[in-house]
Amino acid sequence: MASKAYVTVNVLLISVAIILGNVLRFRFLPFNNDTKKSLGYPKDSLLNFTELAGKYGYKSEEHTVITDDDYVLTIFRILRGRNCYGRIKEPPVILMHGLLQSSDAWLDAGPNAGLAYLLADACYDIWVGNQRGNYYARRHLHYDPDKHAQFWDFSVDEIGLYDIPATIDYVLNHTRLQKLNYIGYSQGSGTFFIMCSERPGYCEKVNLLIGLAPAARQTYTKSVIYRIVSTGISTFETALTTTGLQEIFAKGALGQELLGFICQFGSLSEPVCGTAEGLFDSFHPGSITNETLRVMFGHFPAGTSVRNMARYGQSMMTDKFQKFDYGKAKNLEKYGSREPPKYNLNSVTVPMVIMYGKNDFLVDTKDIKWLVENLPNVLMVKQVADPLWNHFDNTYSQYIHDLIFPTVHHYLLKFSK
Ligand SMILES: *[C@@H]1O[C@H](CO)[C@@H](O)[C@H](O)[C@H]1NC(C)=O
Ligand SMILES: *[C@@H]1O[C@H](CO)[C@@H](O)[C@H](O)[C@H]1NC(C)=O
Ligand SMILES: *[C@@H]1O[C@H](CO)[C@@H](O)[C@H](O)[C@H]1NC(C)=O
Ligand SMILES: *[C@@H]1O[C@H](CO)[C@@H](O)[C@H](O)[C@H]1NC(C)=O
Repeated sequence: MASKAYVTVNVLLISVAIILGNVLRFRFLPFNNDTKKSLGYPKDSLLNFTELAGKYGYKSEEHTVITDDDYVLTIFRILRGRNCYGRIKEPPVILMHGLLQSSDAWLDAGPNAGLAYLLADACYDIWVGNQRGNYYARRHLHYDPDKHAQFWDFSVDEIGLYDIPATIDYVLNHTRLQKLNYIGYSQGSGTFFIMCSERPGYCEKVNLLIGLAPAARQTYTKSVIYRIVSTGISTFETALTTTGLQEIFAKGALGQELLGFICQFGSLSEPVCGTAEGLFDSFHPGSITNETLRVMFGHFPAGTSVRNMARYGQSMMTDKFQKFDYGKAKNLEKYGSREPPKYNLNSVTVPMVIMYGKNDFLVDTKDIKWLVENLPNVLMVKQVADPLWNHFDNTYSQYIHDLIFPTVHHYLLKFSK
């Protein structure tokens, strides 16, 4: 019978997913930093934010943010750009990374292209955030991420509800100001929308929101691999978590270590890692330099929860920007409705600038168009002036200086003094 074959295929797929997931999360340190250095890993790939910024002459500080639900996030402040000679501008600017990234993503393209460097050089007061689950935010006051599954009970829904507001509050309190500016890449913007919808008053703490390829819904995502991975994780979420797999794509796990190992070879970085990046997103030859490819996989993927990946999988199968779908029964219990509640994009009242790439296979131009139609206060929407601009380009391209920075600087300046 067909149904029997169907069951067999499903059991097989679940088994493959569980085995693959568990093998890839296996934390195994084949080499320590010294061995890696002697193997030829670029030094930058082994450095943390403070060390990396410091190496290029940017002094930074580490700060600790504690969320209302007791997650502990390390965030960074760049005190002064090496090419900034004037007064530091007010208000502060928060940079928030995307899915599976960390604060380091804003540095990996190097001082001539990394947006955190470029903005610090333009004398902005730069604060670089981290979201729960990555290697700078894998801490909690009561839960141990290695022992307590509860730690991993989150998706963008909780990041928007807790991490983004806590980071904003921390920066405002520390600088004794009422408002700040915010730049969110992909998930860093999507979680901001969630905050505005769920935490009345928080949107008013921000003067200007700049969204680089903002990720709200993923209805038209073109990337086949991203779709397979996310919807697969979504389908098998229960099977994965009941076998103890709550964390996925962590730094230091086998998956990331393998990428880091392969990509550090100069001769493989472009043909193998550049091609893999192109297959996952879309092709933009030469945009990300060989050197950046060698460095970025020391910091990427930075880790998240299985639940968060599942949430992306769900959002590829609906045309709504809505909360996590637990299934009808649990939805009723959690939300009081059988369907997950939709986020209210009308609440995103902050003036917003949106930049996106025509060749972005992760956040599709159709989803951007839908978003723009549903946001109440969009100042400007700009398609990046390079028809091959893809998703990863927004943090890693060598052309950020020419294609992203001028617009960001122009609008930040209008909202700064
Ligand atoms: C390698 O260096 C980084 C950055 O200094 C540090 O965070 C990490 O713990 C080091 N890893 C090992 C295995 O020494
Ligand atoms: C980064 O590295 C420096 C120097 O090794 C260390 O003091 C600091 O604690 C590290 N920061 C984080 C957040 O890991
Ligand atoms: C605000 O900052 C002050 C000093 O900088 C600190 O003592 C206080 O705990 C902070 N409050 C909050 C709510 O973070
Ligand atoms: C990157 O490396 C590849 C292979 O070694 C080489 O063909 C290519 O020209 C390099 N690209 C850049 C931008 O340096």
